[in-house]
Amino acid sequence: MRTKIVAGNWKMNNNLDETKKLIKGIRKSIKKLPLENTRVIVAPTFVNLNSAVKRAKKSKIEVVAQNMHQAKNGAFTGEVSADMLKSIGIKTVILGHSERRTYFGETDAILAEKVTSAIENKLGVIFCFGELLEDRKSDNHFSVVENQLKKALFHLEEKNFKKIVLAYEPVWAIGTGETASPEQAQEMHAFIRGLFEKQYGKGVASRISILYGGSVKPANAEEIFSKPDVDGGLIGGAALKVEDFTAIIKAI
Ligand code: PGA
Repeated sequence: MRTKIVAGNWKMNNNLDETKKLIKGIRKSIKKLPLENTRVIVAPTFVNLNSAVKRAKKSKIEVVAQNMHQAKNGAFTGEVSADMLKSIGIKTVILGHSERRTYFGETDAILAEKVTSAIENKLGVIFCFGELLEDRKSDNHFSVVENQLKKALFHLEEKNFKKIVLAYEPVWAIGTGETASPEQAQEMHAFIRGLFEKQYGKGVASRISILYGGSVKPANAEEIFSKPDVDGGLIGGAALKVEDFTAIIKAI
């Protein structure tokens, strides 16, 4: 059985106080939920990771980072390394989010380096990818996604995929209120699984968790999660409120 995952990407939201409150709220609200085979993840901003890790101790909440630099260390002002993350108890990092690609120039080649660095440092990766609206309109969404995966992930060995979770996030659905339909999500997820089967075989393809992201809300989560190849969600806006995030976790 594949692991189910609900991950909240907090982006550039929540100061220290707000971070503490949100972790406390989620902790309390999920305490009694049956979460076998389900991971609950939150990704606060770098400066609050240390505090978040401490506050999530002995709970079902995993705290992960939103990004990481690929170099071991050195003259990279403003950046954060894998070793720094590990030293405060972080075990997983989100890489390739569309906002990193669009606003910070992260290319497939850079992302391939970041993924390699994370794996070498024994960090898990939630790898994000997805097409732009114009790609979908021109019917190029499958080839765009295939290219993103080939260029950033297909240099890895089969065993590395134990540490990797995929997050398909069509860019036109992120923060827009417009969601891919459950059918569109399922169609793309099945295509992605097929690509992994071709490249790495049935084992990897059937085990890898594929999350959907893009305007997942309490109102649409259950229907999206009911699709056979959708193993959970990467949640932005709705992860910032305890009630909404909890409702989405209940949906899984
Ligand atoms: P959204 O963000 O849920 O606010 O659309 C999703 C994401 O960026 O991961």
